[in-house]
Amino acid sequence: MINPTLLNLPMPITTPRLILRPPQVGDGAILHAAIVESFEELHRFMPWAKELQSIEQTEEYVRHAAANWIVKRAEDPYLPLLIFDRSTEELIGATGYHHINWDVPCLETGYWLRTSRTGEGLMTEAVNAQTRYAFEALKINRIAITCDITNIRSKSIPERLGFHLEGTLKNNRLAVNGSITDTLVFARYNLDGLPPLEITY
Ligand SMILES: CC(C)(COP(=O)(O)OP(=O)(O)OC[C@H]1O[C@@H](n2cnc3c(N)ncnc32)[C@H](O)[C@@H]1OP(=O)(O)O)[C@@H](O)C(=O)NCCC(=O)NCCS
Repeated sequence: MINPTLLNLPMPITTPRLILRPPQVGDGAILHAAIVESFEELHRFMPWAKELQSIEQTEEYVRHAAANWIVKRAEDPYLPLLIFDRSTEELIGATGYHHINWDVPCLETGYWLRTSRTGEGLMTEAVNAQTRYAFEALKINRIAITCDITNIRSKSIPERLGFHLEGTLKNNRLAVNGSITDTLVFARYNLDGLPPLEITY
């Protein structure tokens, strides 16, 4: 069994257009600005975006996340990654690893983009990169993505990246508008057939 605390994880992860890295002390303000800009879209689908947090609360979040990365703590907020545009250095969204079980090891991922940066394939690129990193560096056996069946843009990402649709959890999700919806569960067990992407870390 691996000892996650002693795993050496080289960072950042670099793709042709992006840099992914753990949050650092002082990232609160730029993260907050991206969330404010995207709040309407985030509020619809992200359970953590029920209410807008303050800059101080966001800074608290990034410090907990930075601390988690040091010891690879499998507790909320788990191991998030901030995503930056390589050429402009703008923070364009976030992804990362959550619901980690180091015994297997297996984990889940989730993601959101700054609304102004949707439609360019950037999240597909980020999830491709972090899936590679999860199998190669974190030595996982499974990565899962769960999403609301009505979240077409979100479900397109695992579909584009060749994740297996494992099933539909019927009536297990309360949408922001009060309706009950279904959850799709996608997963990968290796990198077979993942669209090619050059990454370094
Ligand atoms: C989910 C979310 C990240 C998807 O954003 P997105 O911009 O659709 O995803 P990508 O960055 O991968 O871009 C894909 C789009 O870019 C287009 N595109 C352009 N260049 C591309 C490229 N090189 N590669 C892939 N797609 C490309 C695709 O055609 C697609 O557009 P389409 O849906 O109109 O066909 C975004 O809608 C979001 O943040 N939503 C709110 C939070 C959320 O729901 N998170 C998921 C919770 S499970």
